[in-house]
Amino acid sequence: MLVLRSNPASPFVRKVRIVASLLGLDDRIEISAADTSDPADSLRAQNPLGKIPALVLEDGEVLYDSAVIVEYLDWLAGGGKVIPPEPAMRFRSLTRQALGDGICEAAVLLRYEALWRVPERRSETWMAHQSDKIARALAGSETDPPEEISDVGTIALACALGYLDLRFQGAWRAQHPKLVQWLEVFAKATPSFEATRFRE
Ligand code: BEZ
Repeated sequence: MLVLRSNPASPFVRKVRIVASLLGLDDRIEISAADTSDPADSLRAQNPLGKIPALVLEDGEVLYDSAVIVEYLDWLAGGGKVIPPEPAMRFRSLTRQALGDGICEAAVLLRYEALWRVPERRSETWMAHQSDKIARALAGSETDPPEEISDVGTIALACALGYLDLRFQGAWRAQHPKLVQWLEVFAKATPSFEATRFRE
């Protein structure tokens, strides 16, 4: 079995789980909870960065981050499945993955700032810097919503929107009607999106 070190709220873990499901690899992956804030958790021995997701292979080798894991799973399934083989589509898809992951990185930083820093020590400038990244990425996607469904780029974008729904009350929806519509189409075509939704 492959072991996926995880947290169910992580949008990066969700991306990997959706990819695994689309590739028919669910049965080969054991989901193993990891506590990124616990120094005693074996996660830090598996990934020195102490970050999830990390995928432990059968021979003990560990892959991270989520983009590498997704590439590995696609290869395991024969290649060219969620990462298109044709160069123009491939690099558009990988770039869209970077955009989705970047939204998630900024959103997770904002979430941690709100959780872990008392209001008087928060930097409004730094938070605005992160929020602006998300706003620009969403504005670009609203102008030019994806036509593709269920490649690594659109999966990453859907997971980013899902994370904004989870932790930021879906505030993005009011300003991005085309993306709202696109996400509905994506969710209908990709049942594992709903199946991996985290509910507290
Ligand atoms: C969250 O609870 O928002 C979260 C958990 C793990 C990774 C990223 C985000």
